[in-house]
Amino acid sequence: MTDLPAGQRLQKVLAHAGVGSRRVCEDLIADGRVTVNDEVAELGRRVDPESDVVRVDGVIAHIDPTRRTVVLNKPVGVISTAQDTHGRQTVVDLVDVAERLYPVGRLDADTEGLILLTNDGALAHRLTHPSHGVEKEYLASVDGNPSRLAVRSLRDGIELDDGMTAPAKVSSPSPGLLRITIHEGRNRQVRRMCDAIGHPVTRLVRVRIGSFTDRQLAPGEWRDLDPAELDQLERSATPDR
Ligand code: URA
Repeated sequence: MTDLPAGQRLQKVLAHAGVGSRRVCEDLIADGRVTVNDEVAELGRRVDPESDVVRVDGVIAHIDPTRRTVVLNKPVGVISTAQDTHGRQTVVDLVDVAERLYPVGRLDADTEGLILLTNDGALAHRLTHPSHGVEKEYLASVDGNPSRLAVRSLRDGIELDDGMTAPAKVSSPSPGLLRITIHEGRNRQVRRMCDAIGHPVTRLVRVRIGSFTDRQLAPGEWRDLDPAELDQLERSATPDR
């Protein structure tokens, strides 16, 4: 008796991960657009979803059913570490799942908005690694109404006690409100940038991470990312692909 080859059929795994119908996934493989561990895959190939790295057009496909990534709209006052030594409520407490998820990056306790939680270490690494420069967009309500010159200085880069900030995208959609997009992850960066121009932040909300945004999620609510969103996020975190 011959042993069955180990693993699951690639087209089935890809279809299960939401890449497309089984037929579409077969075509992707036949067209040479799918790699397994950096080798172009052939139809009939079997994979182990927990250990093989599968890419479609160079972008990692999230095929491992044990991996989970969710987004939370963090309310004010919740801590964005996995555990808090002072017993305060954390982002992990708000996301009621069986998997052990941890936050991707940080938001200050007094900052609101989108934060990802995952058990996918590779994804978390790519999203937070400074060399990948994933954009984060914030809406900052500030004291007073910054002048055009002040807005321009935020845009160009501003001297903070840990060095100059990289150029940022900054606009002022209404008086006292700034839309700031940065790709660095320094501690309290947006608050310190606004302090430096003399317009301290009174409310800070993160509204976008890379390509990812969600206007429907109320503070305290969370949801799983779907395969298309994971794929987009992967593209934002993967330079030169
Ligand atoms: N910048 C800040 O000042 N705080 C945050 O939580 C995130 C970015």
